[in-house]
Amino acid sequence: MNILITGASGQIGTNLALKLLARGDQVLGVDKRLNAWSQAFPLVQTDMTLSPTGADNRSRFPEQVTAFQPHAIVHLAAWAKVHQLVKEPAKALENVAMTFWALEAARAAKVPILFGSSREVYGDILRHVTEESMADFVVAESPYSASKIAGEAFFSSYAKCYGLKTLVFRFSNVYGRYDNDLERMERVIPLFVRKIWKGEPITVFGRNKMLDFTYVDDCVSGIAAGIDALLIGLPSPRVAGQTINLAYGQGQTLYDLVSLIELATGKQAQATYAPSQTGEVTRYVADISKARTLLGYQPQTPLTKGIQMYITWCRESGFLG
Ligand SMILES: NC(=O)c1ccc[n+]([C@@H]2O[C@H](COP(=O)([O-])OP(=O)(O)OC[C@H]3O[C@@H](n4cnc5c(N)ncnc54)[C@H](O)[C@@H]3O)[C@@H](O)[C@H]2O)c1
Repeated sequence: MNILITGASGQIGTNLALKLLARGDQVLGVDKRLNAWSQAFPLVQTDMTLSPTGADNRSRFPEQVTAFQPHAIVHLAAWAKVHQLVKEPAKALENVAMTFWALEAARAAKVPILFGSSREVYGDILRHVTEESMADFVVAESPYSASKIAGEAFFSSYAKCYGLKTLVFRFSNVYGRYDNDLERMERVIPLFVRKIWKGEPITVFGRNKMLDFTYVDDCVSGIAAGIDALLIGLPSPRVAGQTINLAYGQGQTLYDLVSLIELATGKQAQATYAPSQTGEVTRYVADISKARTLLGYQPQTPLTKGIQMYITWCRESGFLG
């Protein structure tokens, strides 16, 4: 199958592209940046915030995109860091423009489209387990959250108006290989691992903040299962129009995370604890039973194991010196 992946130079996009190639799919990436990790698949470098639709209401895409004739599109391109979008909210609007680009590409090619949404759409609900119907769209905690809510709304409208087959995934704190893009952004796990390894102090915003950390291989297995379900109806033909949580399904506090990194590195963290920052979700544990039922999703990597795998990858890749 030919799969077009937007945001293919990012962490999830790179891992997904390599997984799909390994099982025999053809992949074309779209991203505004070249891929720093892999040249194994072709990439169209373009800025997806530039509208593909002209005044004549017809969409035009780069020749390579049209010629590729995708069977499905996985839309992952975004500004993906919550706190950055609290400081620079205009980037949240760019997320919506990118989603429009991807939906127009799917409409033009008449193919199914999958969306990398986020647990941020639930807001900071302080409940223990989050099931898909619990999203209440008046609770956007941050411009990033608002951009994902808007993206989900656009997906729903394209399904209704143009009959597009859609599948929305809500990811949660994905970590693992290809996430050490330090100049661009650094997420909590790469940041803590690097600083604890080097003996540098860390500030932990929210000691008891409880999050559902997802190893990237579990995340991309779920996306691949979603592609199959949309295109060949296996393991379930009932996924079109669905919204599905993809996470590990267990909560860990940031205090737990620091302890696990200490254990895996053999180093003691110099940690200072501070209140959570504006816009942050402080508690999220996904209910992943829908993913299990509809996609046969079975996450394999608890944080205890994933942290060790991530640190091994960092060491082998030279990130820890
Ligand atoms: N990683 C997570 O924990 C997580 C959690 C929830 C949701 N998500 C969502 O999943 C998707 C993938 O996340 P990721 O971790 O791989 O993020 P990432 O930042 O590593 O990748 C996103 C990619 O989008 C590209 N991009 C940004 N603006 C663009 C533009 N104007 N035109 C073309 N490309 C552009 C970036 O260059 C980047 O390569 C994102 O939409 C993100 O919001 C991620």
